[in-house]
Amino acid sequence: MSEQEDLEKGSKSKITPPESGAPFNAIEEVIYRRRSVRYYQDKQVPDYLIRRILEAGRFAPSSGNTQPWKFMVIQDQALIKEMTQAVVKVMRLLMIFTDYTERGSRWKEWISKLFMRFSKNMFHPIPAAAMKLIAEGKLGVWHGAPTVIFLLMDRRSAGDPMVDVGISGQNMVLTAHSFGLGTCWVSFCKPIGMIPKWKKRLGIKYPYKLVTTIALGYPRGVPDGQVPRETQAIDWFEEDGSFKVIY
Ligand SMILES: Cc1cc2nc3c(=O)[nH]c(=O)nc-3n(C[C@H](O)[C@H](O)[C@H](O)COP(=O)(O)O)c2cc1C
Repeated sequence: MSEQEDLEKGSKSKITPPESGAPFNAIEEVIYRRRSVRYYQDKQVPDYLIRRILEAGRFAPSSGNTQPWKFMVIQDQALIKEMTQAVVKVMRLLMIFTDYTERGSRWKEWISKLFMRFSKNMFHPIPAAAMKLIAEGKLGVWHGAPTVIFLLMDRRSAGDPMVDVGISGQNMVLTAHSFGLGTCWVSFCKPIGMIPKWKKRLGIKYPYKLVTTIALGYPRGVPDGQVPRETQAIDWFEEDGSFKVIY
């Protein structure tokens, strides 16, 4: 039976849980070894691999199986370059009015705070610092990746379409990593999804809204180490009614 037939028939799971202390399985290896890749080889990813990656995105779970996504694949290098220039232009413009890192400019600080009040996510000091790097040409937008996948969300969808789109993207990112490819989520694409000229050019229209993008390609070099993660407290209500906190 082919893998596709097996899927369609609804294969019975032959997966058994690992013994305590067993080494990482293939999925865990992919999850823990994936890193955001910001340097790419000058070599395009073949279509068949991209199709497999998109298929993994399509098989993501979604609220009520609404599948509220649309993917766009962009490999036109001139178009990626133009979009990059458009993003850099917006970042430069924003830096005229907002700059967290510039001490001494009272009015910039004041406008930054005002922007933050209306868009806490975008104008938080972390993305704001990266926006400054993009404006100064010190951080790329799509990092020279030969392929960019755009993730659009159907805004009519019930439930949590943003979460659903995120899951489909993560399916794609992990699948790409399992093929030896590199990816980087790129949410600094946002201006492209807001500027009417760009929306028209890319055919982004209602009911779709650009959520984020994924840069994809063959990594150049190996990203060093692992970016540290916070150890968050996890509250655990046990079967016997007791409670513990684990880390
Ligand atoms: C939704 C989302 C948006 C992101 N946007 C960008 C971006 O625009 N540019 C960039 O270089 N990295 C971006 N990243 C990558 C994060 O910086 C990265 O995932 C984080 O620092 C952890 O590093 P790691 O992916 O190597 O584990 C984004 C990640 C996510 C999940």
